Amino acid sequence: MLKVAVLVSGRGSNLQALIDVCAQADFPAEIVTVISNIPDVFALERAAQADIATTVVNHKEFADREAFETALQAAIVQSGAELICLAGFMRILTAGFVNRWRDRLVNIHPSLLPAFKGLHVHEQALEAGVKVSGCTVHFVVPDMDSGPIIVQESVPVLPSDDADALAARILESEHRCYPQALRLIAEGRVEVVGERTAIKEPAK
Ligand code: GRF
Repeated sequence: MLKVAVLVSGRGSNLQALIDVCAQADFPAEIVTVISNIPDVFALERAAQADIATTVVNHKEFADREAFETALQAAIVQSGAELICLAGFMRILTAGFVNRWRDRLVNIHPSLLPAFKGLHVHEQALEAGVKVSGCTVHFVVPDMDSGPIIVQESVPVLPSDDADALAARILESEHRCYPQALRLIAEGRVEVVGERTAIKEPAK
């Protein structure tokens, strides 16, 4: 069983998708801790509901980013986690932290990267007039919203879409892609080759 820490900052719908898939018989990963940088978010309730240990590492209680990350690192190491999944975690991580977790730190982003990095992703997509968008699960590297891509899924952008409608459609695909990516990683099928990943066939 691959031990996973999920880092959150908000409602935690992707966390829920990971909780649900980990509850399936024979799923090769388990969530050992959920860590939030913001107290009282709904994601923490979801974790508690699933009997998963939670920790709040409130960034506001630390003098700087390094001190915050030292506490974050300690909480993760204490949990025994081997992989970190960022699921709506709204803090930028330093290169030092990211490099320490190289190829063991995963994020989900609501666009088809490398298009539309950063914030206001759906507004960016609508502004650009793309006819498809989607989501990306990728390994985290120091550059924001970059790194080897593990899973992507596309969804149509409809003429009637506003940012909320597009976000809702993409969120549904996020809830498929994150569990799928976690399974691939836990099965040892994701190999990082330079800036890309190679997905291996399942063992017979
Ligand atoms: C998702 O859209 C994810 O792609 C982005 O932040 C949002 C988090 O939503 N990184 P939730 O907290 O998982 O519901």
